[in-house]
Amino acid sequence: MCGIVGYVGHRDVVPFLIDGLQRLEYRGYDSAGIVVVGDQLETVKAEGKLGNLKEKLNGHSAAGSFGLGHTRWATHGPPSERNAHPMIDSTGKVALIHNGIIENFLPLKHKLTEKGFTFSSDTDTEVVANLIADHLGSGEDLIAALQATCVELDGMYAFAAVSTASGQREIAMGRQGPPLLIGVGQDEMFLASDPAALLSYTQDVIFLENGDTALLRTDGYKIWDGDGNEVERKVQRLHWDPVQIEKGGYKHFMLKEIHEQPQALQDTLAGRVDFESGKVILDAIDLDEATLRKIERIHLLACGTSWHSALVGKFMIEALARIPVAVDYGSEYRYRDPIVDNRVLAVGISQSGETADTLAAMEAARERGGHLLAVCNVVGSQATRISDGVIYTHAGPEIGVASTKAFTTQLEALYLLALYLCQVRGIELDPSRLSELAHLPQAVAEALETEAQVKAIAKRYHRAQDFLYLGRSINYPIALEGALKLKEISYIHAEGYPAGEMKHGPIALIDEDLPTVAIATGDKVAEKVQSNMQQVKARDGRVIAVTDRDPGEMSEFADEIIRVPRLSAILQPVVNVIPLQLLAYYIGVRLGCDVDQPRNLAKSVTVE
Ligand code: AGP
Repeated sequence: MCGIVGYVGHRDVVPFLIDGLQRLEYRGYDSAGIVVVGDQLETVKAEGKLGNLKEKLNGHSAAGSFGLGHTRWATHGPPSERNAHPMIDSTGKVALIHNGIIENFLPLKHKLTEKGFTFSSDTDTEVVANLIADHLGSGEDLIAALQATCVELDGMYAFAAVSTASGQREIAMGRQGPPLLIGVGQDEMFLASDPAALLSYTQDVIFLENGDTALLRTDGYKIWDGDGNEVERKVQRLHWDPVQIEKGGYKHFMLKEIHEQPQALQDTLAGRVDFESGKVILDAIDLDEATLRKIERIHLLACGTSWHSALVGKFMIEALARIPVAVDYGSEYRYRDPIVDNRVLAVGISQSGETADTLAAMEAARERGGHLLAVCNVVGSQATRISDGVIYTHAGPEIGVASTKAFTTQLEALYLLALYLCQVRGIELDPSRLSELAHLPQAVAEALETEAQVKAIAKRYHRAQDFLYLGRSINYPIALEGALKLKEISYIHAEGYPAGEMKHGPIALIDEDLPTVAIATGDKVAEKVQSNMQQVKARDGRVIAVTDRDPGEMSEFADEIIRVPRLSAILQPVVNVIPLQLLAYYIGVRLGCDVDQPRNLAKSVTVE
């Protein structure tokens, strides 16, 4: 998944491109490049992180008010300067930046080679740049050349092209799959993969639809749909202020976002519960009550951390609304030929709304007649556009690759969905179910007060090579999430297990070098987890406990006791995960890892 930006207007384009790429670096950072358009196409590229490109640009003559920029997460061709975008065609008149994968690039490359085009990279993108040049021929109509190119492509793309052929200051764009948006300015136009790159320049954006192409000039834009009809697309005003994007005084985005969770939960709840009448209001769900009453099964579809929130969501929906829930990895769902009809509600859960595997699963459910809902954090993202309805998590931009505030607000959104389903299906709700929601931000704020203690624990345990995370029932997904956080931030191997599974294998791993994080909360299962903790201690294992119990009750079972506020079992996971996020963060920092941009990862994986 890559980050792309573009600009045509009156500003000095290089600072804009670099600033935009800086905000998109979380989308991929193994190489970066820019092109400034004058009489010639002047490109500057560098392997590695954006800082290498910035260094290269110091003292460089590249200057102008029209250009493109790209930060790469390699798909075709290893990370290198020659595979960095922008790609220039072999005639030197077209520059292209691209996010996605072109699946039929090889036959196209052979066809172009026979026509005399030459290639200097291993990328699919360079093939597209030459294809545009081929369609451009001796002509000057860049958008027509790009539209003709799109017809020949199989695969996913969000791309932008410029050319010196026409002498026009214009950018042609096309989108099929990965996100691409236009930023509307005053006598200037912007483009980007993600609003975060534009917020300091304009809050008026247009999300291109799949199949759309567009042409930007300083005096405006034109958009065509996949059938070549000129169309209007809604200009959306985004209310994320640029300050939100900055680190706000925190060392890393991840820590900032961990601490933003009380506010994010507050914002996600706002306007969705009428505490007077006890009503849940999900206005964007856009599925009428009669349809929801007919739903007999729910499929929760997601990847990674969002899949963990789906596992918690299953407990919530089944416990409250008594509707059977199946949870599937986005990457697996469509291969099991799922049994779906109009009695199924499929819910895609995705922070970015652009995860290709989740989108594919959502499409698979819709093709089979299911109703489609998205739980998503990004306005106008693909998941929200293919769904019948949306429950937005209002967590604000999540820049850290490791998902934190998106996760807890997803849990809140799924809880709201469970309550809403009860409401439309006439299931009586205990008023405490709502009043506890109002208390959730405060409870998370209290859980954040364990930060200093967790930081000290991180110092004692950061040398461990492996970790085990244990949880039971609704806290088993939290054990999985805690393990994933640690893995992706500190590169330490960690596994999450149902605590009851210990005796069926993992207990063989226990020794003094393998710390076990045990989540011992909730009425029914804490005692059972305590006996698992005893089994670990009896084998010289060290135990880090997350508990709502009095430390005195736990001291014989654990070496470290992290106390979190007690909530009802169904909402307890929201606070239980907080110390696990902090533990992963502080171990990662102590190990000197790049916690905001861990190696090999990208914030949203828009390729399958
Ligand atoms: C979580 O910390 C990871 N960044 C990753 O597992 C992520 O949750 C997954 O890629 C799904 O992303 P999405 O929520 O944007 O769909």
